Amino acid sequence: MAVTMCLCYGHTFEEVKEAVKEHGWTTVGEIGKEMGCGTGCGLCRPYLAKMLETGETEFEAVKEVKQPSDKQKWSWKGFGK
Ligand code: FES
Repeated sequence: MAVTMCLCYGHTFEEVKEAVKEHGWTTVGEIGKEMGCGTGCGLCRPYLAKMLETGETEFEAVKEVKQPSDKQKWSWKGFGK
């Protein structure tokens, strides 16, 4: 079964990719800050990082999660009001 979206916020990776293109975001943190994706359960974070890296929007579910690179590393900065 392919993974195609952030379930917590209901955005497909295709939608996220379009927003990334439109706004020029380069990190998972920016996506989370603006769209929420990655700030819920966090399971979509590695897929968002892979989407930023490759442009792919459909992924095989992974059992082992590779942590994002330092460039893509999750940051809590900018969250909370
Ligand atoms: S699936 Fe994206 S934050 Fe839970």
